[in-house]
Amino acid sequence: MPERTHVAIIGSGPAGLLLGQLLHKAGIDTVILERHSREHVLGRIRAGVLEQGTVGLIDEAGCGARMHREGLIHHGIELSIRGARHRIDFQALTGKSVMVYGQTEVTRDLMDARQAAGAPTVFEAQNVTPSGYDGARPVVRYTANGMAKEIACDFIAGCDGFHGVSRQSVPESALTIFERLYPFGWLGLLAEVPPVAPELIYVNHERGFALCSMRTHSRSRYYLQCDASEQVENWPDDKFWDELRRRLDQDAAAHLVTGPSIEKSIAPLRSFVAEPMRFGRLFLAGDAAHIVPPTGAKGLNLAASDVHYLAEALIDHCRGGSDQGLDHYSARALARVWKAERFSWWMTSLLHRFPDTGPFGQRIQLAELDYLVGSEAAATALAENYVGLPF
Ligand code: APR
Ligand code: PHB
Repeated sequence: MPERTHVAIIGSGPAGLLLGQLLHKAGIDTVILERHSREHVLGRIRAGVLEQGTVGLIDEAGCGARMHREGLIHHGIELSIRGARHRIDFQALTGKSVMVYGQTEVTRDLMDARQAAGAPTVFEAQNVTPSGYDGARPVVRYTANGMAKEIACDFIAGCDGFHGVSRQSVPESALTIFERLYPFGWLGLLAEVPPVAPELIYVNHERGFALCSMRTHSRSRYYLQCDASEQVENWPDDKFWDELRRRLDQDAAAHLVTGPSIEKSIAPLRSFVAEPMRFGRLFLAGDAAHIVPPTGAKGLNLAASDVHYLAEALIDHCRGGSDQGLDHYSARALARVWKAERFSWWMTSLLHRFPDTGPFGQRIQLAELDYLVGSEAAATALAENYVGLPF
């Protein structure tokens, strides 16, 4: 006999876990199928800036206690241009702020809550295969400990990230893909050292973009724009710190505290959207449907807004209410996704060095940065997007 559940969720990243928790609170049962182990999922280092809307959803899921204790509330960011720092004051411009709290910690809190609720997750599930979602009885097949298994369900939520099986199971002819690859990557370094400044610094520099971020008052995350083909092995810690110092303003360079890296990795930069986000009884959410470059830290926040729309729609349906939410899910989610795609693309274009931008392009970039820090209207547009558009 196959197992049964209301919603089979593929992927135990923030999207799948948040959806599972919101549905659990509404009395809807779910099974999560995750390809990797719990430890592997918790070992991934990702961005760490939460919009207020995301914070609200994590609270709604009942998982916000540690985030409120340990998260850092930031009322602005700094832009470093031609060696001078300019503050964008979110609080003054929008009345809002953001929460700095690592995605790894969000994932851990959601996993702990799911475990405490006794909701099932199958880790190390192999060959996960969604099927039958065009009809009324979807089934997800998988292998666990060498045994073939299947789960019959009413709906499948594809929360399995960019490389997941959910989007890949959809016939190519049913998908429209929009994509842009950027000609550089981000080399990231995590270290147990105090942050160089109380707020994040986004650096535009002739040697390339840099970002000073943090996880806590004693743990920092730094990034350098690097060649797309660059290898981590070519970047011993000392070389990283030297290059970062060269891109920082004098004051930051003088105050930078360095130390051994805990983690170092290179991420490519990509914009990607797959439309639509619904195929019969299969719904895509988060990175499974779209990717943004990390400039502006929208990835996790977009996953959260997808999940908000999807949870609301599934809850309405399961309570015998309307199917309007399910029918409009894709259009509602995509409307917000494209605004975040635009913002992330814009922040990326504004702050990075592009190999094919000649002197004209560079002057235009500097003019736009000058305009941004000199005009309240322009700064407000940045701030409004950074703190998160409503959903
Ligand atoms: N079967 C089961 N699980 C899978 C499969 C598969 N075939 N393929 C991938 N997964 C799992 C991955 O191991 C991962 O744990 O799905 C999960 C997807 O999680 P994320 O990649 O974190 O994606 P998402 O939950 O949408 O979160 C979006 O997290 O990845 C960042 O940049 C992203 O910040 C954004 C946010
Ligand atoms: C991070 O802390 O990892 C981070 C912060 C802001 C970004 C991207 C990444 O825009």
